[in-house]
Amino acid sequence: MDGANLGDIEAYVEALFIERDPALDLALLDAEEAGLPEIQVSALQGRLLYLIAALSGARRILEIGTLGGYSGIHFARALPETGRLITLELSEKHAAVALGNFRRAGLSGRVEVRVGDAKKTLRNMIHSGEEPFDLVFIDAEKEGYIEYLDLALRLSRVGTVVIADNAIRGGAVLDPDSGYGRVMDRFNRRFAAHERLEGTILPMLRRSVDGMVVGRVVG
Ligand code: SAH
Ligand code: DHB
Ligand code: MG
Repeated sequence: MDGANLGDIEAYVEALFIERDPALDLALLDAEEAGLPEIQVSALQGRLLYLIAALSGARRILEIGTLGGYSGIHFARALPETGRLITLELSEKHAAVALGNFRRAGLSGRVEVRVGDAKKTLRNMIHSGEEPFDLVFIDAEKEGYIEYLDLALRLSRVGTVVIADNAIRGGAVLDPDSGYGRVMDRFNRRFAAHERLEGTILPMLRRSVDGMVVGRVVG
């Protein structure tokens, strides 16, 4: 790195593109006060998610891992009035915080939080003939990512955008001794080799370098 560190660069981009946003600020505050882990996407990552959803014209978005609704607010804002975000969360407590945050952001009408183990919820959705989604975001526990991908593909169509968080994790994916890195590396390889998917990894600044797998269903 010449000249500037990663934090300075992130701050530079944030200063350019991130405006003050009371609904998002309060969502983070509520999550913190409720004792939720601070593992939501960064402001710039949220901005990217919003843009991808808007650019793709998504009307139905599936999120796996709601937490306090921070990424969900970005997705829901990208939807048309009649669009829908269905977001899956294991923890009743996290879901309750998220519901409050969606309400305050004026997005309740477009968002549904489904509580329970997302694997089970996804299987129920498949069996009940849920309409395919236009965009899927995977961001729950990393050990479940491969199964989430397989299940989400059964709720997808050709052209569905698929995004997964935490693809790089400060380079842990390159470290043969990192358990976390092994789990994400296995997922990244699965995505890259999948015959129904094409994609890439977008490295992003988030304290250190993390990234998102971004791709689409092609078959
Ligand atoms: N997308 C959120 C962050 C999600 S953090 C944001 O950026 O704002 C991961 C979330 O996944 C946590 O809230 C955790 O409770 C949830 N989670 C973990 N295991 C899960 C499971 N099996 N099913 C559904 N949600 C799960
Ligand atoms: C962490 C960050 C994440 O984005 C996530 O989905 C899970 C955990 C973390 O920083 O620990
Ligand atoms: Mg994440």
